[in-house]
Amino acid sequence: MQLQTHAVPEMAVEEELDAKDPLRHLMGVEDSLVAVRDSSSQLLAFLPAQSHSVEDGLLRLSFSSDRGGVPRPLNISLAVDASPGCGGIAWPAGQILATYLVQRDLGYLRDKNVLELGAGTGLVGLVAGELEADCRVVITDQAPLLPIMQKNVALNKLGSNVVVAELDWGSPIPAAIPKPDIILAADCVYFEPAFPLLVQTLADLADTSTEILFCYKKRRKADKRFFSMLKKKFSWKEVMDDPNREIYMKEAITLMRLFKRQK
Ligand SMILES: C[S@@+](CC[C@H](N)C(=O)[O-])C[C@H]1O[C@@H](n2cnc3c(N)ncnc32)[C@H](O)[C@@H]1O
Repeated sequence: MQLQTHAVPEMAVEEELDAKDPLRHLMGVEDSLVAVRDSSSQLLAFLPAQSHSVEDGLLRLSFSSDRGGVPRPLNISLAVDASPGCGGIAWPAGQILATYLVQRDLGYLRDKNVLELGAGTGLVGLVAGELEADCRVVITDQAPLLPIMQKNVALNKLGSNVVVAELDWGSPIPAAIPKPDIILAADCVYFEPAFPLLVQTLADLADTSTEILFCYKKRRKADKRFFSMLKKKFSWKEVMDDPNREIYMKEAITLMRLFKRQK
């Protein structure tokens, strides 16, 4: 007798599971902290060296940097806290984007308005502010993440050029946020209901001359819906001049530059 198989398309199964638990593709917070440390020591060995002090509860990240031919590590102290949501820890995509900024030419950020979306702990924006005193950085996220970002700005004494602001994707851009020359976003594609909101906010903030660095971790097939929405307003190219690209591609992470389309 031939067994009859009812092949349910893989995507339909994924969607059913997503509807039950929209955040299931993000690892448990404890797991992700461990995973980042494991990755750093293995595959993603180029990521900043990390030490986690039990004494003060801070994560210390040391990015190797060779500025002007002089080795000068860039150190960031980071308060991490899983309680306000997934953004309260340092995710690999954020570290990859921060590492890319550290390796760029001096002067790249000079005199620029920089804005980080979905900043979580604020790591990427803090690195931008530390790299270039002569730039103005706004690190943004939803309200529950603001205290940890404020704490991290103060810990790193970056209050003169890094400020914290609430920016909920899909909401009007607050008048106090200056128009950015550079937008940074890491690991912001993971929650399907937020896909159109993120595209809307990118479109509201950017014009055709805005530089947008977007570091994306592919977690599931439904992510392609985000890119179908994005395609209506932006085109993109993979960043090819990152020496670490081949390594993080193996972890399904891509660093892209987005370009707003002409209307
Ligand atoms: C996976 S975490 C990445 C955090 C950080 N960029 C990093 O790489 O470590 C995603 C971030 O997006 C933020 N986020 C999610 N939905 C948002 C929304 N609707 N508006 C603003 N931020 C949002 C979360 O609060 C969180 O900080």
